[in-house]
Amino acid sequence: MNRDIVLLRTVEVVAIASYKYIGKKDKNLVDKAAVEAFEVMLKNEKGFRLKVVNGEGELDQAPMLFVGQLLGDLEDPSVMTYDVSVDPVEGTHPAAYNFAGSIATIAFSRENTMLQLPEMYMEKLFVSTEFINEIDLKKGIVESIKNMQKKVNRKDLKCIILDKPRHKEIIKKMNDLGIIIRLIQDGDVLAAIDVVNGDADFVYGIGGAPEGSLMAALAISAGCKMQSKLVKYKDIWPNEKESEARMKKETAWLEKHNLDFDSILEDLDLVADHRTRFFAAGLTAGGSLKPVDYKNGKFYVNAFMSSHGIVRNFNSVYDVKKVNDLKPEIKFLFDKYKR
Ligand code: FBP
Repeated sequence: MNRDIVLLRTVEVVAIASYKYIGKKDKNLVDKAAVEAFEVMLKNEKGFRLKVVNGEGELDQAPMLFVGQLLGDLEDPSVMTYDVSVDPVEGTHPAAYNFAGSIATIAFSRENTMLQLPEMYMEKLFVSTEFINEIDLKKGIVESIKNMQKKVNRKDLKCIILDKPRHKEIIKKMNDLGIIIRLIQDGDVLAAIDVVNGDADFVYGIGGAPEGSLMAALAISAGCKMQSKLVKYKDIWPNEKESEARMKKETAWLEKHNLDFDSILEDLDLVADHRTRFFAAGLTAGGSLKPVDYKNGKFYVNAFMSSHGIVRNFNSVYDVKKVNDLKPEIKFLFDKYKR
């Protein structure tokens, strides 16, 4: 079957499997369901192979979707392999407590085009198509905002930003600049989807680096732009014991990739493929993707896909009885994760 349809259906079924644990106050359960659903849905697909570049962690930390894991057609040597960044539940806390901001998401690109990102913090600026030529993180966020405002000759641009103490100062500055701010507790990938869907002009702030790979794939495939810069764990959590050990790991990673903490990473540095594709499905309410829902034997899922500058939002309905006949993998997951 067509790769895009396979991945679209996969994120939808992942959202459906996660539904059982949404609001149950257990991050691990919701994550486990989503991870298993991803693996089961992709494991035996034919015609292409996927290599996890950014996933659930190294092999010793994650039994499924670990970095380097191959999924799909492992028998036919002639099929294409694609790199994958996957976050089965982006926003585990909001999924566990049914707060805003949680999605299931995956992106793929040609083999050896995705940068494997460490568990680090990353400063990210993601802007809509209108502003791709106005931003320059080298000059800083304030300069970039002023350029965007100049381009459209108005101040009231809409920004989504994680509501974290580290952003207190910049939030104040943005208020002074006339920016309309939407604060979110979690989920900067969904915030970037909101920008693509026209609900905001840009996302700014320090969040997770692996999420940056997904946001870069989204930016490239939707015709938007993202710039980023890695941030020391120590700068975010100065008093934590693990800061020193983290610093060693971070420095080793940067040296390996010939980068430093001042390096500006363009979206294409993270995913070097103009044909990358991005997929997501909503788990909880709060952004431009509706939450997954179940009523009278049917699941309702809002999925999203972007490729080649084409952006698609899907309202999909799964009739459980009928869909169970479609694919044994789906029946297995629907039975296992019945709520
Ligand atoms: P998880 O999927 O790991 O729960 O991440 C959710 C998230 O809100 C991301 O969207 C964001 O990039 C990151 O966490 C921010 O990290 P922190 O909560 O440590 O500030």
